[in-house]
Amino acid sequence: MLDYREKYRPQFHFSPPSKWMNDPNGMVYFEGEYHLFYQHHPDGTTWGPMHWGHAVSKDLVHWEHCGIALKPDEHGDIFSGSAVVDWHDTTVFFSGKPGLVAIFTHSDHEPETNKLRQRQSLAYSADKGRTWTMYEGNPVLCSELLTDFRDPKVFWHEAGHRWVMVLAAGDRVQFYTSADLKDWSYASEFGAAEGSHAGVWECPDLFELPVDGDDGRTKWVLIVSIGDDPAYKEGSRTQYFVGEFDGDAFVSDASPDTVLWLDHGRDNYAGVTWSDAEREDGGKLFTGWMSNWKYANVTPTVSWRGAMTLPRVLRLKSSPSGIRLTQEPATELGRLRGQAQSWTEAAVRPGVNLLAGVGGDRYELECEIELGEAREVGFKLRKSEREETVVGYDAAEGQLFVDRRNAGEHAFHEAFACKHGASCELNGGRLKLRLFVDHSSIEVFAGDGDIVLTNQIFPDPASTGIELYAVGGEAKLVSLTLHPLDSINSA
Ligand code: FRU
Repeated sequence: MLDYREKYRPQFHFSPPSKWMNDPNGMVYFEGEYHLFYQHHPDGTTWGPMHWGHAVSKDLVHWEHCGIALKPDEHGDIFSGSAVVDWHDTTVFFSGKPGLVAIFTHSDHEPETNKLRQRQSLAYSADKGRTWTMYEGNPVLCSELLTDFRDPKVFWHEAGHRWVMVLAAGDRVQFYTSADLKDWSYASEFGAAEGSHAGVWECPDLFELPVDGDDGRTKWVLIVSIGDDPAYKEGSRTQYFVGEFDGDAFVSDASPDTVLWLDHGRDNYAGVTWSDAEREDGGKLFTGWMSNWKYANVTPTVSWRGAMTLPRVLRLKSSPSGIRLTQEPATELGRLRGQAQSWTEAAVRPGVNLLAGVGGDRYELECEIELGEAREVGFKLRKSEREETVVGYDAAEGQLFVDRRNAGEHAFHEAFACKHGASCELNGGRLKLRLFVDHSSIEVFAGDGDIVLTNQIFPDPASTGIELYAVGGEAKLVSLTLHPLDSINSA
């Protein structure tokens, strides 16, 4: 049984029952269940020979752990990849019925040269993901590139009536197409001269979304994670491109030097969208790994390491600078809410904490604040006399920031203690925030999910204070609601 009393154990985020976890893999909805697979090293709390761990959920919030789905075999370790529902049995794995197919990277060493070699393979399950069979024809896609050829994300392209795969190939992504998931043809590539190359390209995803909720107008979004490079303090992070995809090739709307970040925090990596998890609101469900390769192997947890971000819904919104992704937490999380406390129409004066006496270590906080005369306004969270994490808005800079320099344990890596932010436009002088605070993370969603900052923190369990603060003048609290959130262990 998973022990949710362990120090730093996330209370409403997914974490592995024990040992190491990195990227989310094979996220798919099928016959009433969300399947989350993940990069897993079952014999250690640091990265090692990769397996796929597996969990299922009926509500995206509570998870049942299903053990190991895929383990290393004669073709190598099991790196990241995706899963699809093969509705029409294009693979002929399922005697005409629908079934689940995982498309992933096998990573080993080429026998002659001993060079690292990455190739794409299949596994399939006819029993709702409970047992898996490796395809005897593995691997199904190889390249002369050998290394850094990985992380296939596959989807059914309705217009072209065939499967499309996007995968990372060194400093770019490549697209392949197939009728049966077994035979793949090269279609095109994108990115050698576009976006950020501050690290190797990994874990791409490609999907179509309505613009401003209008089904008549859609755009394609290409997500690309970029690995940690010692030259950049930010470590590993995720960028995206908005453009067109005709079934063969992706063309970005932006100039090649434009870089759009999916998340302005430090801990949202290798995230991709869920297959077959269509939302009534037209958005796309997304989950990322809530860590950063810069320090992922040394964070101060004991029996396990790693957590996922909250599941989020991605949408496209037009803005003066172009079409941008927004992210909002999946509405299903609302079922964790307990008895709320609310405040309205109050002055936020420097030196006075309206929330004195209020506390918690797992909650959602929704608020709207009018900046007024304040130079800076925000919250100090997971606070005690010794530590705090600050989520604030700096009026002069027009920046929303997170300061975790004094958030708790940080000596495990020099890059962890940091303050970072993103420019954020106020709406009529008002800052609208939704914050999710857990035992070892804070997720910040500003506006309509226009700006997101996802960060791990490692505070003392006793640091539960909350301060609403203003600096340099008075701000006005328009409204604030604090929802305590249940632990997902208490179901
Ligand atoms: C991303 C990544 C992938 C790879 C996997 C290995 O975090 O490096 O590119 O498939 O992790 O665990």
